[in-house]
Amino acid sequence: MVPGKQHLSKLANTSKNIFSVLLSQCTIKHNHLPQPNTSKMNQTISTDITKLFGTELPIVAGGLMWLANAEYVAAAAKAGIIGFITAATFPNINDLRAEIRKCRDLCEGKPFGVNVSMLPKLVPGEQTQTIFELVADEGVKFVETAGRDPSEFIPFLKSAGIKVVHKVPAVRYAVKAQKAGVDAVTIVGAECGGHPGMDMVGSFVNAAWAQNQLSIPYLIGGGVGHGSQIVAALAMGASGVVVGTRFLVANEIWAHTDYKQRLIEAQPTDTDLCMSSVRNTVRSLRNETTAAVKALEAENPNVTIADLMPYVAGKIGREAYLSGDWRKGILSAGHALAFVERLDSLADIVGQLRHEMTQSLARIDQLRTH
Ligand SMILES: Cc1cc2nc3c(=O)[nH]c(=O)nc-3n(C[C@H](O)[C@H](O)[C@H](O)COP(=O)(O)O)c2cc1C
Repeated sequence: MVPGKQHLSKLANTSKNIFSVLLSQCTIKHNHLPQPNTSKMNQTISTDITKLFGTELPIVAGGLMWLANAEYVAAAAKAGIIGFITAATFPNINDLRAEIRKCRDLCEGKPFGVNVSMLPKLVPGEQTQTIFELVADEGVKFVETAGRDPSEFIPFLKSAGIKVVHKVPAVRYAVKAQKAGVDAVTIVGAECGGHPGMDMVGSFVNAAWAQNQLSIPYLIGGGVGHGSQIVAALAMGASGVVVGTRFLVANEIWAHTDYKQRLIEAQPTDTDLCMSSVRNTVRSLRNETTAAVKALEAENPNVTIADLMPYVAGKIGREAYLSGDWRKGILSAGHALAFVERLDSLADIVGQLRHEMTQSLARIDQLRTH
């Protein structure tokens, strides 16, 4: 990927904001793009989110159904960000406990968390409170919650000393979550892989819109796969970003290489939105399943989740990750496919994001008149 080229003149370090702090540590070559000094690439960025988690970078690897296991989450921790073991992947509570313990060993003291996608009450298999008790029992310090209003669990989580980052698909729900007492909130926009909600407002709007409505730190997600977007989100008031799609081709994601190759080939236009008829919109890789589901939804406005289940059941997606046959199953992926270019270690992908952040900070500084 070749970003637009610019000529640089002298860098000035005049402001005390984080951009300039970062820039002050970079040497910029005077040809074409701003070139960060690679010897300074291990610099850290400090935001409310890095302070909350104790990470180097304000990047969160969000929960990934079936995929965010101990190896992936530990790779995130070692890359200087935080990841979340996805509890729903381990319906047997003892398996989840074993995964948490494995992750703790692999993380070697670095922070990690557990993603708890709370099912609506009364759904069979709902065991949110049991999972939170396990998380507390295992001494995990961070949870990423999603799926429904977390209010009823906040007193328990606070008393256990667990920090809660609640993920929502619209600014209005972020305001509600703030009232419920969460420590931080993640707002995912229409571009995101997985569940963008019903409002379908884009991340660029959410990032700036949230600033005046929230007093707690917030993260922006949905379509984030380039370091310049992280800088933009920070500039708009966010304290960090959540990433899903961009990390799917990491070596530490266990899914079959054929599936990852498809992600590399795919364009942002190769995703589909399904299931809004049952108020559970999901953005996923366009394939035979999304075509079939969209046809059912178009034919019958009263289609039910039970009608769709033979196509959308999670185990079909898991089968696709195992076999590499991406044609079947709802395989969440978003517009950040634009930035998915090759197989890499998670550390290298995070390193690239860091590099792009430094470049775009330099670009902004260059645009300022001194
Ligand atoms: C394959 C995949 C599986 C996901 N599974 C979950 C999940 O189980 N729970 C959850 O809270 N979010 C899940 N997400 C959402 C991500 O955590 C993150 O919020 C989202 O991917 C950010 O948008 P992006 O894909 O544009 O980066 C998933 C996303 C993807 C791509």
